[in-house]
Amino acid sequence: MQINWGRMLWTAPAAWLLAGAAWSQGAPAAASVDMGKRLFMRCAACHEAKAGGPAKMGPHLQDLIGRPAGGLPNYGYSAAMKSKKFVWDEAQLHAWLARPTAVVPGTTMAFMGMPDAAERQALIDYMRTLK
Ligand code: HEC
Repeated sequence: MQINWGRMLWTAPAAWLLAGAAWSQGAPAAASVDMGKRLFMRCAACHEAKAGGPAKMGPHLQDLIGRPAGGLPNYGYSAAMKSKKFVWDEAQLHAWLARPTAVVPGTTMAFMGMPDAAERQALIDYMRTLK
C-alpha cells in the first residue's frame, strides 16, 4: 500500500476545520444556557424556576415566554404589574431585566437590573428551558 502523504497533510487539517465549524455552531446556545443557569442564582432568592415549588417573594418563572405579564392566577402581583397588558417575549424580557422599573413603573420587584446584554440573553436562553 502506498500512502500519499501530500494528500493526508491537506485533508487532515480540512477535517479538523470542518469539525471545528460544526462544534462552534452548536456550542453558543449550550454555553449560553449554562451561563444563564448560573446567572439565575441572582433571581432564585425570589423566584422558583418551576411551578409547584414553595412560595417565594416572586412568581415562578416556568413557561414564562408566551405568558401574559402578571398572569399567574395564584400570585399577588402589584397593581402596577396587573395593569400591564403584554405577553412576555424576548424583547420585553430584555427591557425588563435591564431595568424593571422602566417597563413596569411601581413594580415590587426589587432588582436593579442587568446592564450586560449578553448576560440578559443567557438568562433568557436558560429560562426558555424551564418547561
Ligand atoms: C428581591 C426579589 C426579586 C429578585 C432578586 C428578582 N425578582 Fe423578579 N419579581 C419579584 C417580584 C416581587 C415580582 C412581582 C412584581 C410585581 O408584581 O410588580 C417579580 C416579577 C418578575 C417577573 C414577571 C413575572 C410575571 O408573571 O409576569 C419576571 C419575568 C421576573 N420577575 C424575572 C426575574 C429574573 C429573571 C430575575 C433575576 C435576574 C429576577 N426576577 C429577580 C422579585 C424578585
